[in-house]
Amino acid sequence: MINAKLMQLVVDASNDGIVIAEHEGDDTILIYANTAFERLTGFSTDEVLYQDCRFLQGDDRDQLARRVIREALKKGQPCRQILRNYRKDGTSFWNELSITPVFNDAEKAMYFIGIQKDVTEQVLAQQKVVELQAELAQARLEIAALKR
Ligand SMILES: Cc1cc2nc3c(=O)[nH]c(=O)nc-3n(C[C@H](O)[C@H](O)[C@H](O)COP(=O)(O)O)c2cc1C
Repeated sequence: MINAKLMQLVVDASNDGIVIAEHEGDDTILIYANTAFERLTGFSTDEVLYQDCRFLQGDDRDQLARRVIREALKKGQPCRQILRNYRKDGTSFWNELSITPVFNDAEKAMYFIGIQKDVTEQVLAQQKVVELQAELAQARLEIAALKR
């Protein structure tokens, strides 16, 4: 049987942020954050405990992913979304956030496990591909016009 100390080592060996949150009114507040979360965000555990993780969005709140997460949490459903987040030093990163509810015997979502993966490189690469595809489409149009 795996003991709590070994589980702690596993969680701290993760390269992805791992947090646990619980309901407090309309918020889900952090009760645990691993060392990878501290590395990813630049915030220490002491600075973030008992806060709702939305502080990572700064003023950049108009994101569809945020609304999807909000609805999933209300329904006690798992979800995975990519959000723009901001570190303590103000720099931004793309956060692929997976949330899994943990239910009690009465089927009430008591806790939420969050896993935060920095997918900035992949998102920027995808954006570049879209940009290049648009440029290619434009170039093709221009060539077609020249041929006419
Ligand atoms: C376990 C857990 C981890 C979360 N982690 C993040 C996160 O890393 N970044 C983020 O922007 N939001 C995160 N959220 C989502 C926000 O806390 C919040 O639920 C979301 O912004 C939607 O609610 P709001 O519209 O009231 O802000 C997390 C939520 C939970 C439950």
